[in-house]
Amino acid sequence: MSSSPNPDPNTPILRDHVYDGIQEYDQKLPNWWLFTLYIAIAFFVFYWLAYYQLGVIQSDEERINDAMAKIDNTRLKELESLDDPKLWAMSLDPATIAAGKATFQQNCAACHAPDLSGTLAGTKLPGVSLSDVEWKHGGLPTEVLKIVRKGSPDASKGMPPWEPQLGVKRVVEVVAYIMSHHKEGQPITKAADSPSH
Ligand code: HEC
Repeated sequence: MSSSPNPDPNTPILRDHVYDGIQEYDQKLPNWWLFTLYIAIAFFVFYWLAYYQLGVIQSDEERINDAMAKIDNTRLKELESLDDPKLWAMSLDPATIAAGKATFQQNCAACHAPDLSGTLAGTKLPGVSLSDVEWKHGGLPTEVLKIVRKGSPDASKGMPPWEPQLGVKRVVEVVAYIMSHHKEGQPITKAADSPSH
């Protein structure tokens, strides 16, 4: 395509092609430019492999989600290891009780009353009493924990599962708060309408 033989590679070649009176040089691209291009291509291949194919590089969102999942898992493991003695011990810890009380007043008092009695100014509220020794789903701390986490087995009763909304930590605290109104080893009676299991 060159207009004239060009022995010196450093002298630019002027192309024959004219467009709107404009002619172009047929010049070798500078090395620094080519180098940048090749690096960019190499980087693309590396990044495409690492990010999309191998999953070695994670986006910020994925990293955060992973970290959150790990925290949740740790909390769940802690939860599985919670037994009655541990929960009774927590029910004596002032900081835990205070945190649980705040959660209770905000989320539970509307149905169970601020004093846990299930009645407010002589009116029976939707929730049952949590301060007496009569329990419908069992009065051991782990049993109370289960009902607060998962809600009543009979969904029509109006006691929703709280773990999705409050998270593990606050559920445990609120249970500790409820148990702070009770004594370890106290007699437990079954409510008349307790499920038979
Ligand atoms: C919308 C009203 C409502 C709210 C809000 C509510 N509850 Fe309940 N709760 C109930 C009802 C109704 C029952 C009885 C369920 C049944 O009969 O199975 C119940 C039962 C319970 C029981 C079992 C009592 C037993 O005798 O076995 C516990 C423990 C309990 N709730 C704790 C909580 C806690 C803690 C909260 C707040 C995080 C809460 N509830 C919020 C309505 C409510």
